[in-house]
Amino acid sequence: MSKHTITLIPGDGIGPEIIAATVRIIEASGVDIEWETQIIGAQALEKYGTTLPEPAVESIRRNKVALKGPLTTPIGKGFTSVNVGLRKVLDLYANVRPIRALPNIPCKYPHLDLVIVRENTEDLYAGLEHIVVPGVVESIKVITEKASTRISRYAFEFARREGRKKVTAVHKANIMKLSDGLFLECFYNAAKDFPEITADDKIIDNCCMQLVMNPQQFDVMVMENLYGDIVSDLCAGLIGGLGLAPGANIGEIGAVFEAVHGSAPDIAGQGIANPTAVLMAAILMLKHIGERDAAERTEKAMLEVFADGTTITKDLGGTAKTADFANAIIDKLKN
Ligand code: NAI
Repeated sequence: MSKHTITLIPGDGIGPEIIAATVRIIEASGVDIEWETQIIGAQALEKYGTTLPEPAVESIRRNKVALKGPLTTPIGKGFTSVNVGLRKVLDLYANVRPIRALPNIPCKYPHLDLVIVRENTEDLYAGLEHIVVPGVVESIKVITEKASTRISRYAFEFARREGRKKVTAVHKANIMKLSDGLFLECFYNAAKDFPEITADDKIIDNCCMQLVMNPQQFDVMVMENLYGDIVSDLCAGLIGGLGLAPGANIGEIGAVFEAVHGSAPDIAGQGIANPTAVLMAAILMLKHIGERDAAERTEKAMLEVFADGTTITKDLGGTAKTADFANAIIDKLKN
């Protein structure tokens, strides 16, 4: 088994607590990882005078993989989102969000298992807004053939690697004929290289209704940035909330794995945070670095702890502390 070096960014608020629990679990799975701890965000601003210091970016570039805790972003003032900055500087173009129900967690669709692949670099998130005349604002939606093709290919390659059967493109090409039309054209062009995977598409509004009524029809879904942002939160709601949703940001030069939730300052420092989402992100990371066996064993141990239902954190109705939950998974991994 080869040794991996991975950049570790504990983050703010509950970040250091859930990252520490996750690292203990991952190490118990037997993978050989050397963690390179780095800081970004508010902590880095204090130490380096910038929220995205070069040592952290260089570490991710060199190791090609990072596990990251949530970062606090000030609202309406102060620095801009470091998460968005990191995605930009590393060109992390694919945001992958698996949506999977867990045993014993009350939710609308207890057997749901789908994956959202969101384009991370363009669309209305290009930040191109201007005032044309007072009272009239333009916000420019940028869609390119290059980005639409690479995200579509990523979705099909992901489906092939994970043994999934269908990729659905989500769009509004009936109205935005040029921009979403281009996205859809790139999607079907990419599909030609993956004949064993079914390719279809849904218009975004119908798609949202179908997701609420009959989400099991979906497998892998690929979409532009804004639709992906909204649809992935909708889907997290179908399985019990954002606290259980992991995310991966993937590009050519690196990949950053994180929970979808934030730094939860209201419960930071109490040892009660739920590390599930960041653990699930770490499991995705293990698969990404080729440690599939360790990933599957860790996932199985986590699912068994949920199935037992006795060691569950407070947010999910239990009384277990972060460390108790981690210990229960580690016990399963060792037996
Ligand atoms: P949040 O996700 O941090 O918290 C929302 C609610 O969920 C809170 O009541 C919190 O206690 C609870 N919660 C979240 N994660 C939990 C966990 N693992 N275990 C138990 N309870 C959990 O969202 P909020 O309050 O809007 O944001 C707080 C900060 O996090 C903000 O500065 C925001 O910008 C940042 N943020 C960072 C993200 C990232 O780094 N990827 C993503 C989202 C928000």
